[in-house]
Amino acid sequence: MKIEIDEKRSENFMEDWPGQYDIFSHLEFACGVPSVMFLITTLKENGKPNACLHAWSTFSGDSGGFFAIMPGLMQSTHTYRNILRDKEFCVNFLNPEYYERCIKTIEQNDDDLDELSAGGFTVEPAKTVRPPRIAQAFLSYECTLEAASDLSGKGLNAMIIGRVRHAAVDQNHGISEICGKDGFAFNIHSPKDPATGKGSQSAVAQLRAVQLT
Ligand SMILES: Cc1cc2nc3c(=O)[nH]c(=O)nc-3n(C[C@H](O)[C@H](O)[C@H](O)COP(=O)(O)O)c2cc1C
Repeated sequence: MKIEIDEKRSENFMEDWPGQYDIFSHLEFACGVPSVMFLITTLKENGKPNACLHAWSTFSGDSGGFFAIMPGLMQSTHTYRNILRDKEFCVNFLNPEYYERCIKTIEQNDDDLDELSAGGFTVEPAKTVRPPRIAQAFLSYECTLEAASDLSGKGLNAMIIGRVRHAAVDQNHGISEICGKDGFAFNIHSPKDPATGKGSQSAVAQLRAVQLT
């Protein structure tokens, strides 16, 4: 049996925290689609490095270019303002071991703070853009701003599309590493029991290949 969930939130999707549904759609929690996590690096207006733990994105393109497509960047973040101002950023993929350090960059978010130092990360110069890469990342994309728009028209989330200008990947990172403890970290955002609307636990996940050929 399938449980049908309407675009209009039913009463059993109660808030777990005040304002939850002012920011998120209840459909986000209908099952908790996993999405790959990464740290976006930009430069603050004062030139200090800024970090933003992020998910809700995909990476795709064609022979005309490869793109970081990020539809869920909050317009209230430093990152949104930095990207609109400087039109460049890096996307850095870290294994789940670094999750606690990423959270530190959320907890320490002052306007004049070096958020990469706050998280205990090491900066590494990018080749094609000014914002730094993260040395601990096994993969970094250097991006320039291709497009920005207001996702829903409510002034909450921006859809940012970055054109990937350059990639730096750890030379030892093959399929076994991608599908293992040193590979991508995924965000599973508070899936709720679709019948009751209850459940508020999130998880960090990683990949396990079901078949290696
Ligand atoms: C797994 C995960 C957890 C997050 N948790 C929070 C949070 O607790 N509070 C918050 O404001 N943003 C959270 N975010 C969103 C951004 O990481 C956060 O707003 C960030 O500090 C913005 O950085 P900036 O203002 O320096 O750009 C989370 C993102 C992810 C992917």
